[in-house]
This record gives sequence, structure tokens and C-alpha cells, in this order.
Amino acid sequence: MQNGNGKPNPQKLGLKLPPDLELESLIGTGSCGPVYKVHFQGETLALKAYTQQAIQRYEKKHGANLAIFEMSQNRSLRKLPQLLPFTAKPNRVLGQDGKFSLCFLQEFVDGVSIDALAERLGRLPQSLLEAGEVIDQVSRTAGIKGMDQFMRDILVRERHGVWQPVMFDFKHVPREHGGSKPLFGILGRKHKAGSAFLRQWRELAARLEKASG
Ligand SMILES: Nc1ncnc2c1ncn2[C@@H]1O[C@H](COP(=O)(O)OP(=O)(O)OP(=O)(O)O)[C@@H](O)[C@H]1O
Ligand SMILES: [Mg+2]
Repeated sequence: MQNGNGKPNPQKLGLKLPPDLELESLIGTGSCGPVYKVHFQGETLALKAYTQQAIQRYEKKHGANLAIFEMSQNRSLRKLPQLLPFTAKPNRVLGQDGKFSLCFLQEFVDGVSIDALAERLGRLPQSLLEAGEVIDQVSRTAGIKGMDQFMRDILVRERHGVWQPVMFDFKHVPREHGGSKPLFGILGRKHKAGSAFLRQWRELAARLEKASG
């Protein structure tokens, strides 16, 4: 599925994309489709190319356009200024009008998984745990639903010598949403119990510290 230059070929992949959008490489494949590193209008971005199956599943189950849904949740979290460093910046949805394949363009996060980082450093950086505390605190105060789901898949990137977690996957429908509740209202007012992700990070940090003697 590649061009002569080794880059993924949109036609061969069945993707209809703007002519000035260049696929650089496949980054990974999630439950809703492949994600590519791309170049578009002078920026390096991540392109989430949703499968028809995933699009139809969201439409049928939640009455939502998957790309718009993911971008809206991504935007909602960025309404909280303290979360800006920890959330990938949404760019735009393509294909909403049927002109292109339905895709969501987002800031490309140049990072590694938490497991890969733990393996590399043999510990979890303090800055990561501190960021986790901020995310936990802010999300509980704002009553964000489903934060543990957003935090399940994160990338960790180094900025000016500081390791920071970055959320990039916003397609999960918060469990608290009943069928009749508004789908996009992830910001609430209720104070909620502590986050599971932070407990898991602390446990991992303690395990690594013990293992290193
Ligand atoms: N903005 C991004 N920047 C860099 N890499 C990304 C970005 N978005 C996604 N990825 C990569 O693409 C892969 C697939 O992401 P996606 O969000 O579709 O699914 P996932 O979180 O891995 O799996 P699931 O759909 O089961 O939750 C991820 O593993 C991640 O490494
Ligand atoms: Mg995910």
C-alpha cells in the first residue's frame, strides 16, 4: 500500500484526501482505524482515518459523527487551561461534507508510551507524576466524566527536559452517559472520587523504585 517513495498511498488504502495532504507513515491502528503521520499546509499532524465500520457504529449507537465527536471532546477538555499542555491540539475534521474520507486531524505528538519510557529510564519521572496530579485534581474539580478512559492511552513527550503526558484519544464515550443524556457534555460540576490512572502510575513508580534497589 505504498508509493514508489515508500510512503503510504491514499488511493491504494481507499482514502480520499486533499491533494496537498501527504501521508508520511502509519503510526498505529486503534479500534476505529489507522492513524498516520501527515504533512498538511505546512504542519506535521496525526490523521485519524476512521473505518466505515467504526463510523457506522458511532452513528447507530450514539447518533454521532465519530470525527466530530472526537474533535468536540478534544476541544471540551482544552477549555480547561490547566489541561492545555496535556492534550493534543485538535486541527480539523475532513470529509464531513462527503468530499473526502471522514478523518480527524490533530497535533502530532512526538512521544512514547508510558511502558516504553519506564523501560528506557527504569523509573517514572517526577514531572510525569506531578502532571498526573494536576490532571486528577483539575478533572475532579471540573467533574470531567471518563477521565480514566482518556488517560488510558497517552503518549509521554519531553519538552525542555521535562516529561509530560499528552492525551490524544478522545473517542471514548464516557461510561456515565446514559442513552438520553447529551453526548457532548463531558464537563460537569460534580466532585468525583480519585482517578484510577494516578493510582496505577504511583504503583508502577513504586514497583520500579523497588526493582532498582
Ligand atoms: N496525535 C497523535 N500523535 C501521535 N501519535 C498518535 C496520535 N494519535 C494517535 N496516535 C498513535 O496512533 C495509535 C492509534 O491511536 P488511536 O487513538 O486510534 O487508538 P488507541 O488509543 O491506540 O486504541 P483504542 O482505539 O483501542 O483506544 C496510538 O497507539 C498512538 O500511538
Ligand atoms: Mg485509545
